[in-house]
Amino acid sequence: MRDTMYAIGFKQYGNPEVLQPLERSMPTLTPDSVLIKVVAAGVNPADTNFRRGAFRFVIRVKLPFVSGLDVAGIVAAVGENVHQFKVGDSVYAMLPTSEGGGYAEYAVVHSTTLSRLPANLSFMQASAVPLAALTAYQGLNEYARVQPNDKILIYGASGGVGTFAVQIARAMGADVTAVCSTRNLSLVEELGAHSIIDYTKQSVDALPRMYDTFFDTRAQFPFVKGAQAIKRGGRLLSLNPGMNNPISGLYAKRNGYDLRGFLVTPNGEDLRKITKLVEQGLVSPVIDRTYMLSEASQSHMYSETKRVSGKLVLRIDETQAE
Ligand SMILES: NC(=O)c1ccc[n+]([C@@H]2O[C@H](COP(=O)([O-])OP(=O)(O)OC[C@H]3O[C@@H](n4cnc5c(N)ncnc54)[C@H](OP(=O)(O)O)[C@@H]3O)[C@@H](O)[C@H]2O)c1
Repeated sequence: MRDTMYAIGFKQYGNPEVLQPLERSMPTLTPDSVLIKVVAAGVNPADTNFRRGAFRFVIRVKLPFVSGLDVAGIVAAVGENVHQFKVGDSVYAMLPTSEGGGYAEYAVVHSTTLSRLPANLSFMQASAVPLAALTAYQGLNEYARVQPNDKILIYGASGGVGTFAVQIARAMGADVTAVCSTRNLSLVEELGAHSIIDYTKQSVDALPRMYDTFFDTRAQFPFVKGAQAIKRGGRLLSLNPGMNNPISGLYAKRNGYDLRGFLVTPNGEDLRKITKLVEQGLVSPVIDRTYMLSEASQSHMYSETKRVSGKLVLRIDETQAE
């Protein structure tokens, strides 16, 4: 095994141009982890936030930092306690947020956060799944405890998380209303939304009080536009953990709904459930653009336009990527 590998990351916080090639030591295999030869890596808004230093006072990372929280690839080695995966298996995973490490030739992943690749996805497609699909799944399943026939409003339905949330909520038997702009109407319709609201033409502020869950992918603070549409006893799920503050909490309580801002966590059991949904044809990743690893800064520039429909993916090992 080699001592060093190629990766893309940053030595100081800044704009997308700070992303640069880094020669890194090979990640160290521990008894409970798996070494993955990375074939493709997903790009998430979190990657751009880390690079800009937006989280620097909340999550400490060591610089230089290798970006990337989603990987798909081939098992190159397994720790001595790992029995459920073997060398040569095709796998994918979300990496721990504060560690990153996805934009690299190799990544080490704790075996409990890993899943085998869905049989019907390529490595490129699979690398678009973990973080965004886990966010949608954990929000709808763990926090909202969605039941069949629940009415769900998904704001930001055309983004990385939203495209999975629409499909997963539908697979859970919910009645899904998706909110997006005009250019993404046909996309969210294809994903299976039962009703669609074009926010450029209709304000969610005028919606009647009829939703059990409002899944909000915007980082609003402290009040959420459209929250008046949540039924009494319903819930507002926010992807902004900053929403767990006394002002927003009190406001939600006064208006008769629960408020939860949450953070996704890597979880192999949840990822294996998502894998099943993908293999059943109930969930599939939407990929907007793909890039070479060397084009990571371009992928960040596009992500930062906030106009990505679905996901962005980096091709890392060209010989295996298709
Ligand atoms: N808490 C967590 O664990 C967690 C996990 C994942 C992501 N996040 C955060 O959640 C947010 C969404 O993530 P993502 O991956 O879905 O982002 P994304 O893929 O970059 O979202 C892009 C989408 O957002 C939509 N959008 C942009 N501005 C909008 C607006 N004003 N109103 C409605 N929709 C708008 C766009 O659709 P249109 O062009 O149709 O407007 C676009 O399709 C990000 O801030 C991310 O950092 C948090």
